[in-house]
Amino acid sequence: MVEADPGHGSAPDPTVEEIFDAVAATAPRIRDALPGRRVESGTENPSGETVMAGDVYADELLAEALGDVDGVGSFVSEERAEALDVGGTVGDDAYAVAIDPLDGSSNLRSNNAMGTVVGVYDAPLPAPGRDLVAAGYVLYGPITTMVVADESGVREEVVERDDDAANGVSRSVVIDDLALPDEPTVYGFGGRVPDWPDAFREYAREIEGELKLRYGGAMVGDVNQVVTYGGVFAYPALVDAPDGKLRLQFEANPIAYVIERTGGSSSDGSDSILDVDPEGLHDRVPLYVGNDGPIERLEAALD
Ligand code: AHG
Ligand code: MN
Ligand code: MN
Repeated sequence: MVEADPGHGSAPDPTVEEIFDAVAATAPRIRDALPGRRVESGTENPSGETVMAGDVYADELLAEALGDVDGVGSFVSEERAEALDVGGTVGDDAYAVAIDPLDGSSNLRSNNAMGTVVGVYDAPLPAPGRDLVAAGYVLYGPITTMVVADESGVREEVVERDDDAANGVSRSVVIDDLALPDEPTVYGFGGRVPDWPDAFREYAREIEGELKLRYGGAMVGDVNQVVTYGGVFAYPALVDAPDGKLRLQFEANPIAYVIERTGGSSSDGSDSILDVDPEGLHDRVPLYVGNDGPIERLEAALD
């Protein structure tokens, strides 16, 4: 677990604030672009997955917005094979930003929640999650919210258009010390039951008898259920895909960082996600996050 600040420790890093200002400023534009971009782009991403027109639009908008932030040296995206060098020296005078531009884009057709995931690393990528200095996500739900976690703590913000603001949006902190509820109440497990290894299936059966199912097909929406109500989210190792589905650099690490900073735990099945040493930008990893109890039971079940 990343030691949560006893209170409101160091002030937010100005570059981190600029990064999340840039991400917030793209949110209304991404939302507005979605109605016309619910179709496949005809291309595949480096993970071999179908890219939607919405993925392409969000990726290009975020690359431009984040490339313009002085303290960002490198932009890495789910939709790009290689890192985009945007100036500066990562780890010295610049951060590397890893982005899942549109998480859950299969929800475009079904008009369900989607998100944008952000990881801010103080090291060239690929890097372990311990090199994160901040992480967060935008949730395109009935309301556009943004969760931001950094050394100073975790907060939930509402992002709205604001024509009087320099970058066209306002960020209003609605929860300034976001913490996982003590008692777990919801769960969401990805993949198909026949594809789960026996040990996970038995664990899932126990959890299903205790908690309420909340699975919407977009990691950001499902994780936000856990952050709000307490519980556990997993996209587990599968029999034919032992590394699961989610990508370490721009999905698992940022989410693990956020959950650990809200007082919960993350795991790849045996240890914190943040300790996983990556080989490539698009490495996949099994992801289990939530309250300490369910995660400890998960690790015991898979041991
Ligand atoms: P992305 O749209 O960025 O590729 O992410 C989709 C991921 C994640 O959001 C979600 O948890 C998972 O895929 C859902 O997978 P299934 O469709 O197999 O449930
Ligand atoms: Mn995703
Ligand atoms: Mn995506």
